[in-house]
Amino acid sequence: MSMEKQLVELESVWNDELQVCQSIEDLESVRLKYLGRKSGLIHQLLRALGTLDLEEKKKFGARINHLKQAVQEAVEQKQSHLSSGPSEKTIDTFDPTLPGKAPNNGHVHPITIVMNDIIEIFRGMGFDLATGPEVETDYYNFEALNIPKDHPARDMQDTFYLSDDLVLRTHTSPVQIRVMESQQPPIRIIAPGKVYRRDADVSHTPMFHQVEGLIVDTSITMGNLMSVLDQFLKEIFSKNVQTRFRPSYFSFTEPSAEVDISCVFCSQKGCRVCKGSGWLEILGAGMVDPAVFSSVKYDSEKFTGFAFGLGVERIAMLKYGINDIRLFFENDMRFLRQF
Ligand code: PHE
Repeated sequence: MSMEKQLVELESVWNDELQVCQSIEDLESVRLKYLGRKSGLIHQLLRALGTLDLEEKKKFGARINHLKQAVQEAVEQKQSHLSSGPSEKTIDTFDPTLPGKAPNNGHVHPITIVMNDIIEIFRGMGFDLATGPEVETDYYNFEALNIPKDHPARDMQDTFYLSDDLVLRTHTSPVQIRVMESQQPPIRIIAPGKVYRRDADVSHTPMFHQVEGLIVDTSITMGNLMSVLDQFLKEIFSKNVQTRFRPSYFSFTEPSAEVDISCVFCSQKGCRVCKGSGWLEILGAGMVDPAVFSSVKYDSEKFTGFAFGLGVERIAMLKYGINDIRLFFENDMRFLRQF
């Protein structure tokens, strides 16, 4: 075949062959076919130049070099194109350049968040942690707390009885008894934990959480009770909340108080949550009743103390503006993810 014919043929096909390459491997074989040192078609033509006369050497030499350069440049361009992005073929299998799916991170349950906040605040005031069993005897849950059988105060708490003598504890107050039985004053503890009552509506679940508090020493007064609880409530809600202590009744404290805070929703203008009163009931408290001291053989002439019990769900609902306590235990991710 004449030099002219061979050249025309190469010039007409090389670019099409190059453009259909789908991978670096394809491209490399096309590159070798045209530009390979030994048997590449362009080099074969350059070698064949030697057989031509001077005039033709000049004419074809220039055209072959021009072709060589064009192929070289096109190969380089195609190479960077192929290595910079995935080919269409690889997209439907795996595309490493697509953004990944972010994993769903878990987090602490809102009740645990608030529980930890409460514990942190009391720890800061020097309280130690105490715990007790959730399955309690009648003695610890009631009797030692000055709630004898047939006492009307038993009706205040709808109890899950496991047997005549065993109950699911209805409050964390039995931990007071267990602590006082096992150590002498001074005592300064909080006892966080689960409690159980037969009750279920928008503000009650059969299981909920309380934090009990107990201080016993030689000269503890109602003034100490008021200042500790006032400081706690200001820390857990806001410096601006006001506290109010109302007379109440618990058989294990005397005197007893119900503690309210100024409504955190309406700043005491009156709203649906505080039922127009401007105040929200938060916890129960009081001075330890001498009858309780005698259960644990403490000398009530020598020691005085105060105790309090607060509901963790109640505080969490007020802090986060939640109007149905059951949301905490339904495990709906749309609810839990918000905290
Ligand atoms: N145990 C009481 C309740 O569950 C709360 C309380 C604790 C009140 C300690 C006074 C002192 O309602």
